[in-house]
This record gives sequence, structure tokens and C-alpha cells, in this order.
Amino acid sequence: MTAYTPTPEDKFTFGLWTVGWQGVDVFGGPTRPQMDIAHSVEKLAEIGAYGITFHDNDVFEFDATDAERQAQIDKLKGALEETGLKVPMATTNLFSHSVFKDGGFTSNDRDIRRFAIAKTARNIDLAAELGATTYVMWGGREGAESHAAKDIAHALDRYREAVNLLGDYVTEKGYDIRFAIEPKPNEPRGDILLPTIGHAIAFINSLDRPELVGLNPEVGHEEMAGVNFAAGIAQALWHGKLFHIDLNGQHGPRFDQDLRFGAGNLRGAFNVVDLLESKGYDGPRHFDFKPPRTEDEAGVWASAAGCMKNYLVLKERALAFRADPEVQAALAASQLDELAQPTLAAGETLDDLRDASYDIDKLDHGFGFEHLDQLAMDHLLGLR
Ligand code: GCO
Ligand code: MN
Ligand code: MN
Repeated sequence: MTAYTPTPEDKFTFGLWTVGWQGVDVFGGPTRPQMDIAHSVEKLAEIGAYGITFHDNDVFEFDATDAERQAQIDKLKGALEETGLKVPMATTNLFSHSVFKDGGFTSNDRDIRRFAIAKTARNIDLAAELGATTYVMWGGREGAESHAAKDIAHALDRYREAVNLLGDYVTEKGYDIRFAIEPKPNEPRGDILLPTIGHAIAFINSLDRPELVGLNPEVGHEEMAGVNFAAGIAQALWHGKLFHIDLNGQHGPRFDQDLRFGAGNLRGAFNVVDLLESKGYDGPRHFDFKPPRTEDEAGVWASAAGCMKNYLVLKERALAFRADPEVQAALAASQLDELAQPTLAAGETLDDLRDASYDIDKLDHGFGFEHLDQLAMDHLLGLR
């Protein structure tokens, strides 16, 4: 066993829909057969995962009878018992079926909105039964392709109504569940409501129970919007809103690639791991990736194992970076400790700095950020 062999203590989790993805995309049908959910659970346990996450319809079909639904749930429970894998998070599929073509919580059709809330409440019951403490809301179909098709203010009213109702529901039921909204700028809709971390935080602050709702940011989704993911989750942490995370890889602003973690923007991945490990994020390290449709089943497990290995390698490098005395000296030279100090001393008011000036001769030095960043690069490349 090497330092890069994952164990359940690493808290790696995978969506059933990730390894189970059959490779269907907009241009082509499946390239892999359907994967039995018990098999997925067993294989994930074998490669060192801590747990799994699921949408209702990853476990049973959209139109399953109650008996069919229960049979699939029993199968999942059996596999979980046998392997000891946990279910820290669950979510609802409000996007695959044609009924959700204009969204779930924000569909223009009121009856569809009512159905979407009912479908979610029913799966929250299952999530609670399986011990999940986070319930993700990814509104991939909540949006529009054209301006007049959606009144954004009314859609946000309806979104808020749904999240408020479900917040009341978990509270009345006494479930130990919090919600995590997953932003995404576009795809499958032309424009999606709550496109970034920032939009979602503002929305959360408008809710009846904001304390019950946080974020499930995804690497690729923020990068599709051209923003820095590590910087985004740092802001989510500052707001106390990083309830969960979707780790994967993306090559800049383009379609949602859902590559394995570490693929795509590798420096970004290093920064993400450094942030999670140094700022005390203690939730699961959840992978939401799609093994490319070129892969057979062996390729699926290679891709899943790659997510975990890359995380562990980057964790080792990030810890070494923080522990390196030269890095600590560089951080001090770059005045990071000074940024941590309040600008006013205790008891001071604006009056105390009214006459503040800055001795320009002190500015004969730079901030040394390039040296600091090269040290990070050297650690990432294994040169230190
Ligand atoms: C995407 C999304 C989805 C959601 C998942 C949870 O790739 O656009 O990440 O994978 O995370 O469906 O609802
Ligand atoms: Mn994605
Ligand atoms: Mn995701």
C-alpha cells in the first residue's frame, strides 16, 4: 500500500451516475451497457471509496411501480450493508424525463412544479432513511433558451417557494438534512438560473431558512463561467456555505466536460486541494465526473481510481508546500500575515487613520508573489 492508495478515511465518494454513465451524449447513444447498482457499490468499495451518492432515478426508473422501486432500494441497501459504504448525499433527477423539459421547480407549468416538489420530498425521505445529511439541488433544467420565455423574477419566486417548502418539510420531519445548491452557467439549458457560486449565495440569503441551505459547487461549472474555482470555494467557506463539493476536471470555458479530477486544469486542482486541506473542510471529497465514452468498464474503474489517486498526490504536494520553511518565509515576505491583521487596531476609529499617509520610500520592494507561486509550482511538479 502506497501513500496514494485510497482508504475510507479519505472520505472519497462517487455519484452512482458517474461510474454508471453509459456514454450517451448529444451526438451519440450509449457505448457501455447499463451497470447494476450493486455492482457499482461493490467495485467502488473495492477501489477504496468511502461512500456513494445518488439521484432517485439512478436507483429506480422514473416510472417504477412501488414494488419495483422498493426492490431496487433493497438491492442498494444490501450492497451498502455488505460493503459498509455510506450515503452522505442524495439528490433528485429533475432533468432527464421530458416532463422536465422546461424545468422542475421553475417550469412555467404549475402542475409540473407541484410534481417536482412531490418527487423531491419523496426522495428526501429515502435520503434520510439511508443516512444522508446533504441533499443536493442541481437545477440543470431551471432556465431558458430565450429572453421572453422566462420571467426571471417569477422563476426565482418559484425557486424560493420550492426550497422554502422543502426546508419546512425536513424541519417538520426532524431530518438531519441540509440542502446544497449546485450552480452551473449553462447546459443543458441555454442559460441556467443561479449560474455561479455568487448568484446562489445571494439567492440563499433570501430564503426563510438560510441556515439550512448551502452550496455544492462543481469545479467544471465555475470554470465554464471563466472564474477561478479555488477562489470561489474560498468565498463559499467564508460565508459558511461550503456544504458539499463536486470535484472533476475541465479545460476552460467550453461544454461541461466532467473529466476525472486532476485532468484539465491541474494547477487549479492543486489550489483546490490546498484550500480544502488547509482550511479545514471536513465534508466528503465527492467526485462528479464522467468516464469518457471511449472507455469500457475497465476504463471506468481506471478513471475513478485516477480521481482518488490525483487527489492524494495533490494532497501530499499541498501539505509539503505548506510545511516547507522556504514557503513559510516567502509567505511572510509577501505579507500574508499582515493581511490577516485588522486594518484598525482595537478601539481605533476612522479618525485614527484620517491623517494616514504612506511613505513611498517603503515601496522600494515588490510583494514577491512570483517567487511564492514558483515554489507552489515546484512542489506541484515534484521538484521540491
Ligand atoms: C452536471 C452536474 C450534474 C449534477 C448531478 C447532481 O454535470 O452538470 O454536475 O452531474 O451534479 O446531476 O444533481
Ligand atoms: Mn458537470
Ligand atoms: Mn455536479
